[in-house]
Formats: sequence, structure tokens, C-alpha cells
Amino acid sequence: MRSLEADRVAYYWFKAFHIVGVVVWFAGLFYLVRLFIYHVEANDKPEPARTILQEQYGLMEKRLLNIITTPGMLVTVSMAIALLVTQPDYLHQGWMHAKLAFVAVLLGYHHYCARLLKKLQAGTCQWTGQQLRALNEAPTLLLVLIVMLVIFKNQFPTSASVWLIVGLVVTMLATIQLYARKRRLDRERQEAAASLEAAPTQS
Ligand code: HEM
Repeated sequence: MRSLEADRVAYYWFKAFHIVGVVVWFAGLFYLVRLFIYHVEANDKPEPARTILQEQYGLMEKRLLNIITTPGMLVTVSMAIALLVTQPDYLHQGWMHAKLAFVAVLLGYHHYCARLLKKLQAGTCQWTGQQLRALNEAPTLLLVLIVMLVIFKNQFPTSASVWLIVGLVVTMLATIQLYARKRRLDRERQEAAASLEAAPTQS
């Protein structure tokens, strides 16, 4: 009886730190690719700003990956293993199989980001800022899917009203993204116009 109670308390501890790990891991993944975007866009800046910015972003990316993102991933996975050891029945359930499949994709994404970082440092990264912005949406989708699986488990929602709510949330997120994109394009246009105006006075 006592050992059942101890197992339950241990399970709560593992779950609490599993969630802490998830938050840290995702914060790192989101910010890492955002830094990649700034790093790539620094190519358009004149010297010496370009080299200074790229060196600074390179340093920030390396620290973010090694001190925040990878440790977040390790805490998430080790706490998840502890949860499964305490509650092995989950390993026979469909939602857990689906969750593990999405987590495998997420681990692949993490690994790919680490490779992109090396390419950025070597100056051989072929991705544009626009492509990296699209790549940065992938963990959002995985986060939503994994959290829904862990909450609903085998009762994954299929009713029309639930999908309507999901549709509304997705539309809201897409609108925010489109608005941010419009503001960025407007700013780039203004900067281009300003540099055109300044050009004759420089020559
Ligand atoms: C290494 C792979 C993973 C395994 C084996 C795993 C396993 C588990 C297990 C067994 C639970 C406890 C479920 C319960 O008691 O109801 C849990 C909870 C949870 N997991 Fe994971 N997990 C993994 C990765 C992730 C990832 C990547 C995320 C986030 C995207 C995540 C988000 C959550 C959340 C939010 C909970 C708390 C759910 C609740 O208690 O209501 N997990 N996980």
C-alpha cells in the first residue's frame, strides 16, 4: 500500500519535471530558429555590421542549443522514460504510439536544427529567411498534436464543434502570422526606399 502511494508521488514528480522539460525544450526550439532567421538576414547588412551580427548570433545560437534546448530535450525524454517505467500500461495504448511517432519527428527536427547551426557557422547554409520562417511553424504543429494526444488520449476529438474551435484557433494564428509578415514587408519596402533616396547624395 505504502509503495503504491510512493509510486503515485514519484509519478507526479516525473510528470511535473516532464512538463518543465517540455516548456524549456520548446522555448529553445522556437528561439533557435528565430535566431537563424536574424543570422541569415544579417547577410543583407553592410560591413562591418554583417560580421559583427553574424558572430553574435552564432554565439547566441550555440549557447541556446547547448545550455537550454538540448538539456530541455534530455529532461523531457528522461522524465518520460521514468513515467513509462512507473506506468508501463501506456506503452500498449494507441495514443501513446501516435505520441511517440510525433516525438520521433520532433527529435529529428531538433537534430536538423543542430545541423543547420553548424552550416550557418561554416557559412554554407542555403536556407532563406522566408524558408526558415516556414520551418519555425513545424514545432508549433507538433506541440498542438502532442498536447492534444496526451490530454484526450484515446478519445481524440472528432466532433464537428471541436474541429470548429481548432479551425478558429488556427485561423487566428495564421492571421497573426500574416499581419507580422505584412509589417515586415512594409518595413523592408520603407528601408529600400530610404536607401534609394540616400544613394544620390552619397555619390
Ligand atoms: C519522449 C517521449 C515522450 C513520452 C514517452 C511521454 C510520455 C508521457 C506520459 C507517460 C505522460 C503522463 C500521462 C498521464 O499521466 O496522463 C506524459 C504527460 C505529458 N506529456 Fe509527454 N511524453 C513524451 C514527450 C512529450 C513531448 C515532446 C511533449 C510536448 C510536446 C509532451 C507533453 C506532455 C504533457 C503536456 C503531459 C501532461 C499531460 C497531463 O497530465 O494531463 N510529452 N507524457
